[in-house]
Amino acid sequence: MLNALSLRRAAHFGDEGDEHQEDGSKTRKQLSIAMRVTNYLTRTGYLWPIILLAILIFVIASLFLHSRDLVCVSSISSFDRLSRTRFFGLDGLESDFGSLGVPWCRSKHGKTIEWTSKDLLQGLEEFVPIYETRPIKNNMYGMGFDHSFGLWFITRWLKPELMIESGAFKGHSTWVLRQAMPNTPIISLTPRHPSKYLMKGPAYVDHNCTYFAGKDFVDFGNVNWSTVMKKHGVTDLTRVLIFFDDHQNELKRLKQAHKAGFSHLVFEDNYDTGTGDHYSLRQICDQFYIQGGGHSCFKDSDEARQRSRRKNFWEKAVDIEGLCGPGEAWWGVKGYMRDDFNHTNKQISYTQHFENSRFVESVVDVYWEVPPVAGPSLTHQTRYDPARVSCPIVEDGRFGLFQRLGLSRLETSVFNGYTQMVYVEMSPKEM
Ligand SMILES: C[S@@+](CC[C@H](N)C(=O)[O-])C[C@H]1O[C@@H](n2cnc3c(N)ncnc32)[C@H](O)[C@@H]1O
Ligand SMILES: *[C@@H]1O[C@H](CO)[C@@H](O)[C@H](O)[C@H]1NC(C)=O
Ligand SMILES: *[C@@H]1O[C@H](CO)[C@@H](O)[C@H](O)[C@H]1NC(C)=O
Ligand SMILES: *[C@@H]1O[C@H](CO)[C@@H](O)[C@H](O)[C@H]1NC(C)=O
Repeated sequence: MLNALSLRRAAHFGDEGDEHQEDGSKTRKQLSIAMRVTNYLTRTGYLWPIILLAILIFVIASLFLHSRDLVCVSSISSFDRLSRTRFFGLDGLESDFGSLGVPWCRSKHGKTIEWTSKDLLQGLEEFVPIYETRPIKNNMYGMGFDHSFGLWFITRWLKPELMIESGAFKGHSTWVLRQAMPNTPIISLTPRHPSKYLMKGPAYVDHNCTYFAGKDFVDFGNVNWSTVMKKHGVTDLTRVLIFFDDHQNELKRLKQAHKAGFSHLVFEDNYDTGTGDHYSLRQICDQFYIQGGGHSCFKDSDEARQRSRRKNFWEKAVDIEGLCGPGEAWWGVKGYMRDDFNHTNKQISYTQHFENSRFVESVVDVYWEVPPVAGPSLTHQTRYDPARVSCPIVEDGRFGLFQRLGLSRLETSVFNGYTQMVYVEMSPKEM
């Protein structure tokens, strides 16, 4: 898709050039000025440095433009629907990424991430061999490949001074953070110490990690962060990265982190509307004014038909009956705001749901969902529905690339845990 877009852009620039040439008089005038300037520069020896500078500016500008292309604008138009259906050899199964819309949280100033698809591809190439050395091979109930890569990539890009993790389980994510930053301290909050799992099988305990675990466990919201930061010598909270994989209401976590003055957060399970065991940012920002956001419980609609068809193919796809609760409540999960692994849940009104998104948008500067690593024809994943997901890093059909990156060496099961992991940057709280 990137290539197609840049080609289109190049063609567009060509058109503009032609337009100018039609206006002969203007061109001639410009030419004579340009020639005079060129002659002068050649004489004075400035021509080449200036050409180099222009090329450099062009390269930087195109990098900047590419980073904006990362959002899957419309995979339907970029890939012929029919050929894809044929490709899968299954009538009615459209794996078009994002065809049912991919809701996102709007950022106040339109700020986006700095990294490009190319950076992600490069990262993948580097990460696959690292992932193969993971201590916990079978991480059921924990992170699979897509999110492990996302967390590693984001962490390595941001290079935090301190990493905080909430929800460690056997310690796989602690290990991922450690691979990204070999000498950076970690704080891990998790009720059961990962060393407890060592008795039954593989687990990872980090030697540069402060564990708030076992009898020392404290919930993220009850930690006195200013004291802990002082103890770790951290003065700039924007240099801290927080990773949440604790299945708590993400609105609650976002508020707690914002109040404490943090700004870089990653949420592992960013469940789509109608799914999951806690209220997620994706759910919160699923609103009528967002593409793919807001839903109708009308059973005889395009969305309803598409959803029910896709439910036959993808385990996590939800149909309208699954989406809508009493009183046609579709937000959250059937109108409920779930929390703490669904141990508690609260019915919320549409107005409250709407206000929640307004709050999130008022503090979020960047919202970026980690794309799935590769299309389902390559990974053979069967769970997430591509229709609600952004374009994968390696698109369907690109088996050569998939193989070259070493991804074909991994077991299929590691690709089955994608739930739209998200990175958010919040504006620092005014102190
Ligand atoms: C899905 S697992 C985490 C998986 C892990 N990040 C990995 O990479 O495999 C969720 C973890 O959150 C822990 N947990 C439960 N309540 C928590 C809380 N309030 N704060 C932090 N962790 C919590 C659970 O004990 C469990 O270990
Ligand atoms: C722990 O991290 C510090 C930097 O914060 C580093 O100097 C030290 O070598 C690390 N210790 C171990 C055991 O990795
Ligand atoms: C954290 O601890 C400090 C020092 O003990 C105290 O002054 C501050 O009020 C505490 N903050 C909170 C939010 O409890
Ligand atoms: C979540 O909790 C609600 C209410 O207790 C229950 O009806 C529902 O079945 C639970 N869902 C899951 C997936 O555990």
